[in-house]
Amino acid sequence: MKEKITIALDGPSGSGKSTIAKRLSGILDILYLDTGAMYRATALKALNSGIDTLDSEGVSGFIDNIDLKIRYMGGVQHTFLDEKDVSEEIREPRVSMAASNISSLKCVRLKMVALQRKIASETSCVLDGRDIGSFVLPDADFKFYITADTDVRAKRRYKELKEKGHDVDFALLKKEIEQRDYNDAHRDFAPLVKASDAIEINTSYMTVEEVVDKIISVVKAG
Ligand code: DC
Repeated sequence: MKEKITIALDGPSGSGKSTIAKRLSGILDILYLDTGAMYRATALKALNSGIDTLDSEGVSGFIDNIDLKIRYMGGVQHTFLDEKDVSEEIREPRVSMAASNISSLKCVRLKMVALQRKIASETSCVLDGRDIGSFVLPDADFKFYITADTDVRAKRRYKELKEKGHDVDFALLKKEIEQRDYNDAHRDFAPLVKASDAIEINTSYMTVEEVVDKIISVVKAG
């Protein structure tokens, strides 16, 4: 294996990217950068400031000076907004759609992508997101496109939210996932797309171990 590597994991919500990325980061002893957390924190900033997440003028008023920091504590990513650890708060369902909306704004993407490229230039890492292999790091050493059937993804997210004590309606959650898929894949700038050189893995009927083994075997061979 090369001394410094970058692995791009892209795909729609709930496809298993973050679980897989965390495992890969542990096995390969490299950093895991959850890029969705950055869009989520930006959305939280807008929500807290009473700014519509689709109002590009309003968002461009704060984006250049946003105090957003990624810190690693015991190897785990923590997201700080205005020096407050918002790692838990950004997982709330109200932030999910807001993040999808705000991520469609070019001014937001340019800011986040610059931060992501800086982190990836400094150390070996696995990044999960929507546009890592296609836009953020087109020269990533390894690119994977992780998918799963919509029903499977909705069930996974439902279980995750229930376990955290959220009151969720399955039909509504599935609708929201479909809406986010549509938003993420249809925005004008750097949409969710499978990079032409990415390996696609449909995780619907695979265990996490099977997916991780498959990726590790590609990385070790490369
Ligand atoms: O991966 P996630 O569900 O935490 O991401 C939240 C939203 O952020 C998602 O709906 C789309 C957006 N996002 C993006 O546009 N580009 C990325 N690289 C990561 C996330």
